[in-house]
Amino acid sequence: MTYETLGLEVDGGIARVWLDRPDKLNALGPRALEELVAVFDELQRRHETPVVILGGKGRAFCAGADRADPPGRLARGSGAGARERRWTAQLGRRALEAIERVEAVTIARLHGHVIGGAVVLALACDLRVAAASTSFCIPEVDLGIPLTWGAVPRLAREVGAAKAKELILLCDRFDAVTAAAYGLLNRVVADDALDAAVDEWARRLAAKPPWALHMTKTQFQAYGRAIALGDVTTMDGDLLAAAVAEDPARFAWRKETRAP
Ligand code: COA
Repeated sequence: MTYETLGLEVDGGIARVWLDRPDKLNALGPRALEELVAVFDELQRRHETPVVILGGKGRAFCAGADRADPPGRLARGSGAGARERRWTAQLGRRALEAIERVEAVTIARLHGHVIGGAVVLALACDLRVAAASTSFCIPEVDLGIPLTWGAVPRLAREVGAAKAKELILLCDRFDAVTAAAYGLLNRVVADDALDAAVDEWARRLAAKPPWALHMTKTQFQAYGRAIALGDVTTMDGDLLAAAVAEDPARFAWRKETRAP
């Protein structure tokens, strides 16, 4: 499939998805959101690709929702029926869920601006690495809308409810070191070290036993879905048994496979 707003590069076990409208700081219109769903659904079927990096071309990761191209078929009077309007209103959440759904490990490569919906895309990824000069902001409330796209519980999960409320309600900008202190980022690196840092993690992850990597990813997916409903750790034993059965030699004790 070819994409208008995105680029997809696959290099061995590592796929790179690039938001690719740099002249608009990769702002996310309906087309880009639909393409994010499509590309992550495509990646879901690439069973030989254990790692996906999501980044932005140009001088920003992403400036959030495309405020110059609101979904045309959102409004009454657009000709769209109620169900289509509802579908259109949920494109952002659909993009977030498509990223979360992929069973490869995802890394957000963050630089420049990470604003509004861009924070949501980052939250959908498993790991987040940012260049030191990256600037973050959740400006929705100042723009007269609530933060949507499924972001509120995810942000609260990552940074705690009190900090999530502060960031969403006050709409202040914050820098990468602050974002890391909040728990929103795994790593902050010098601007010129971003690609090296992201690639190093991607390579290391892609070299791990693929079945264990995949299962661990799906454990976190399950906890993310079920944690509010109850404890699902009862299935851990089943996962362990299935993993050992799949590759008994790897699990068997050998001195050279001791933990580091
Ligand atoms: N929607 C649509 N277009 C956007 C955009 C957005 N969210 N963010 C940036 N752009 C476009 C600008 O219109 C401009 O296009 P143009 O050159 O054709 O006019 C281009 O991207 C560059 O943006 P510009 O504002 O000139 O860059 P800057 O470095 O001065 O400022 C930002 C960068 C991110 C601070 C500023 O663009 C901004 O505040 N954007 C809006 C962020 C936002 O509100 N997001 C939505 C959250 S819900």
